[in-house]
This record gives sequence, structure tokens and C-alpha cells, in this order.
Amino acid sequence: MNEWTSICRVDDIPMLGSRRVARAQGVDVAIFRNDQSEVFALLDRCPHKGGPLSQGIVFGNTVACPLHNFTIGLADGCAQAPDEGCTPRFAVQVQDGVVQLNAHELATHATDLARPKAGPGASTGALGDSSFAVQAPHSS
Ligand code: FES
Repeated sequence: MNEWTSICRVDDIPMLGSRRVARAQGVDVAIFRNDQSEVFALLDRCPHKGGPLSQGIVFGNTVACPLHNFTIGLADGCAQAPDEGCTPRFAVQVQDGVVQLNAHELATHATDLARPKAGPGASTGALGDSSFAVQAPHSS
């Protein structure tokens, strides 16, 4: 299955910032834009204690988790040493300035991982202005 779902334009993601993509099931996906306008997608869940990576600070090709400052690689989702652990990453492509995620991955990848039930990383269930709803998939 190679269907891609259009999410937003690259310019809709702040430079050195992120947005969240809500899914029907599972934790949101965080999409990040670095200072070269490259786009990356990771589960919005830190491998340490589940912090919301979309609220972290992006620098270079990494994001600093807002809870305990783990530095997570945007390309591989892995914590930099001496910290350990990886968060699932998602395939992402940019077509004519539009960010697309793989529809199959959005529906099925890492849906078994939950947001922490309490603490700063817990979901409120409310989506702020920084999230996108997934649009209808299309083939490319
Ligand atoms: S939850 Fe991310 S560093 Fe602890």
C-alpha cells in the first residue's frame, strides 16, 4: 500500500517548529521542520516517559523533550547518548510543497503505544491550534 495523505504545506510548520497530526487511533504524530525546511515525522511520545515531543525545542536535526530534556534525533527517533530509547518514526514526503504521510502507517503504526495517563505528558483530549486533522488519502 503506497497511499499518501496530504497533511499541510511545509510553510504551515514553523521553521524549527512542529505541528501535531491527530489520528483516529493511537497517539498523535508530530511533524517537525528544521532550518533547512526538511520535514520529519515521529510519534508524539518521548521514549523516556512519554512527553509530548511536539512541544519540544527543535535544533539542528534534533528535538529536546520538554519534560526532562532528552535529545531525540528527528531522522531516527532515537535518544542521544547517554540517554536511551527510540520513538517510532513515520515515513514522510514532500510533493510540491505539501507534506504527506503514508496512510497505512497513520492508521496502523504504533497504535498500541498510549499517552501517559497522568503527569505533564498526559493528553487532555483537546487539540490546540497546532494540530491538523488527517485528510482523505490519495495515491501518488
Ligand atoms: S519524557 Fe522526555 S525526557 Fe523524560
